[in-house]
Amino acid sequence: MVNVAILGYGVVGSGVAEVLTKNSDSISRKVDDFITLKYIVDVREFPDSPFSECFVKDFSVVENDPDVNIVVETIGGATIALEFTRRALMAGKSVITSNKELVATYGYDLLQLAKSKGVSYLFEASVGGGIPIIRPISQCLAANQLYEVYGILNGTTNYILTRMIRAGLSFETALKEAQANGYAERDPSADIEGHDACRKICILGAIAFGRHIYPNQVPTEGITKITLADVDYADGAGKKIKLLGRAIRTEDGRICAYVAPHLIGNENPISGVEDVFNAVTVRGDAIGDAMFYGRGAGKLPTASAVVGDVIDAAKHMKAKKYLDWAPGGDDVTVSPDGLVMSWYVRGNAGTDAVRAAFGEVEFLARSGAPAGEVCFITKPMKQETLEEKLKPFHISNIIRVLD
Ligand code: HSE
Repeated sequence: MVNVAILGYGVVGSGVAEVLTKNSDSISRKVDDFITLKYIVDVREFPDSPFSECFVKDFSVVENDPDVNIVVETIGGATIALEFTRRALMAGKSVITSNKELVATYGYDLLQLAKSKGVSYLFEASVGGGIPIIRPISQCLAANQLYEVYGILNGTTNYILTRMIRAGLSFETALKEAQANGYAERDPSADIEGHDACRKICILGAIAFGRHIYPNQVPTEGITKITLADVDYADGAGKKIKLLGRAIRTEDGRICAYVAPHLIGNENPISGVEDVFNAVTVRGDAIGDAMFYGRGAGKLPTASAVVGDVIDAAKHMKAKKYLDWAPGGDDVTVSPDGLVMSWYVRGNAGTDAVRAAFGEVEFLARSGAPAGEVCFITKPMKQETLEEKLKPFHISNIIRVLD
């Protein structure tokens, strides 16, 4: 018998309880053992829950019960969740989580602790919601030298951008819809300012390139500066604006990781990823490009990934297989300032002045543009060069273009 405890009965925790019990027969068959939900730890009351007999308020009940083998942490944040994760691992229990903040900040330490205790620490649900991506990178693509991992890593912002374009909704209304659907973080500024995507690219970068990357090493820009005018111009040029997280291995072996909106050409399949869907492209020497696509947020898709990890941990109770990476440090990352790429520029200037400064550019058009507004895409150059050339102009927005 494998006994599971869930910490935190929010959107994801309640989804895990639902999937674990609804599919218990098929899950138990796959594990060749019975998987039982024994406890749910939450300080709140849920008298009408179908799992009401499982609720306890005190984590030490789980910690001190030797029959609990697997703890699912769906509390979120990096305070109580960190304490309970450490205590559960110390008590010899495998821990499964969807908590990207915790993994991005403390992943290396927690993996080491799990290894020293002979238990698993798994977090497939921390990136891409229901999309299998951690295991594919760490196992299925392990033969490759990986060059880059990039993707649409935040469902809420992708949902907002899509609803603004497709339904003409305001940013605020689209955000409210995302919150009502259970996609957004408790504090949605983590979504729209890019911090959620930042944590996820830290995890993907660590898995792909083998060193811990801390969120404060990753320059991060969200979608708050994107306007309908930008979306319109991009559309006219056969491109979409998407918030991307990128981690690129540079020639000297360091990792260039950042989060920012990008214009993406319609020929790249990632430009067609809409609503709450996420997509991650992995670039390796043997595989070329491989793209992973699916629901990036929401109760049941995320629960699907969590319960997949529960099954994996249950199947490997004795013969452990560990996720692992090396510690972080100042030598791990390099700034994206050195990247050479094309840039989308919107501002006020004459086309002749733009040509004089930039040489050949692609001018973009939209209907209803105010007089004097100019919009163009530059040839590839570093950000520093771009900023130097833009000094004489009044600029409203600049956005990276994915080559
Ligand atoms: N708020 C996150 C998102 C949830 O919108 O992608 C899934 O990590």
